[in-house]
Amino acid sequence: MIPTNIAMDAENKKASCLMNRRQFLLNSSKAAVASLVPLVVYNQAGEAQSLTAKMVKYPNKQVANVNNLRVNEPINIHYPDEGVNTASILVKLGVSAGGGVGSEADIVAFSYYCSHQGGPLQGTYKAVDGHRVLGPCPFHLSLFDLTRHGILVAGQAYQSLPQIVLEIQNEAIIATGIMGLLFGRTDNLIASAGG
Ligand code: FES
Repeated sequence: MIPTNIAMDAENKKASCLMNRRQFLLNSSKAAVASLVPLVVYNQAGEAQSLTAKMVKYPNKQVANVNNLRVNEPINIHYPDEGVNTASILVKLGVSAGGGVGSEADIVAFSYYCSHQGGPLQGTYKAVDGHRVLGPCPFHLSLFDLTRHGILVAGQAYQSLPQIVLEIQNEAIIATGIMGLLFGRTDNLIASAGG
């Protein structure tokens, strides 16, 4: 039974889906692909100065194919590597979601590790009416709304679940980044490079 406090009206849900993945800062890493981007900045005297910024990007990784997904039948993926705490859920929700991709904007992916103290969330996906949640966490009962960027809706966590950024290229589902820090890591990519 889903707690009633996760219920929200359709307008609020729609507004919460407006966050663009470009708004999120992607972590830097020796494992990442770096590129140099020219910038123009202005000093206190108003004079233009040219700088070069180092932009670092997560690796692209195909994690599934849209034709192999069924509504509310999650699959397990790993991103950005096969290392510690990279197990994640990939699921077609059947309802549109913040960060969702595909023709119905309903394909999302999230870390399986609770943002509170790393409780394992495997096997806790639930779909009830219009709600799509992961949890409750077996440690302290946190519950996360997968239609709203993994926001906490109950329990002791105070941060959203890290969301895997996805893109569709032809029929392939490509992971391209992570919004949030994977539990137990100091850097999503540096930790992966170090094993
Ligand atoms: S570890 Fe999940 S709620 Fe505490």
